[in-house]
Amino acid sequence: MKFFVDTADIDAIAELNDLGMVDGVTTNPSLILKSGRDIMEVTKEICELVSGPVSAEVIALEAEDMIAEGRKLAEIAPNIAVKVPLTWAGLKACKTLSDEGNMVNVTLCFSANQALLAAKAGATFISPFIGRLDDLNIDGLDLIADIRTIYDNYGFETQILAASIRTANHMSECAKIGADVATAPPAVIKAMANHMLTDKGLDQFVKDAAQAGIKIL
Ligand code: E4P
Repeated sequence: MKFFVDTADIDAIAELNDLGMVDGVTTNPSLILKSGRDIMEVTKEICELVSGPVSAEVIALEAEDMIAEGRKLAEIAPNIAVKVPLTWAGLKACKTLSDEGNMVNVTLCFSANQALLAAKAGATFISPFIGRLDDLNIDGLDLIADIRTIYDNYGFETQILAASIRTANHMSECAKIGADVATAPPAVIKAMANHMLTDKGLDQFVKDAAQAGIKIL
């Protein structure tokens, strides 16, 4: 499973990228707001840092306007994936932008039917939102599994990009289901390293090393 990092924070992306943990980046208007940066400037910087796909989201609601915005975003760098919402207008924009050779990430997906339409419209990535479904007491992971089944049934090449990931458990569950990509905030990716038995075991080893007088350097 590829790891995308869900942030527009350059320092956080750089830290994970240095460890080989970043196969791509996803942003959205809320993450751009949080960064306090200009969308074109920060997106360009991210694209220079990361060689994989960097999703940049349109803000228009009409198809023609989304297409114009998507073309402008795609000029930032060859690794831009234009992000469009899963509306009828967004699907039209997806078809045009992908026919023109752009990577397209269709976002705000909350149902298997929406994912089926995105694949038909030539999406490179479909972004089902797990956490926002969980917030409504609907299991977001079930949606990832349903889309995996449907795409495999028909050989759709659209990649399942599990989004709105809130916990380390979401990451391992997505990997078990077979999501192609998971995008997560830096804190969730770091939390995957945590285990209380690791901390407990290390604590004991530190104490025993001191008692044994072990010195390596
Ligand atoms: C990524 O593409 C999505 O925009 C993001 O994962 C949404 O996450 P949230 O539901 O935590 O805002």
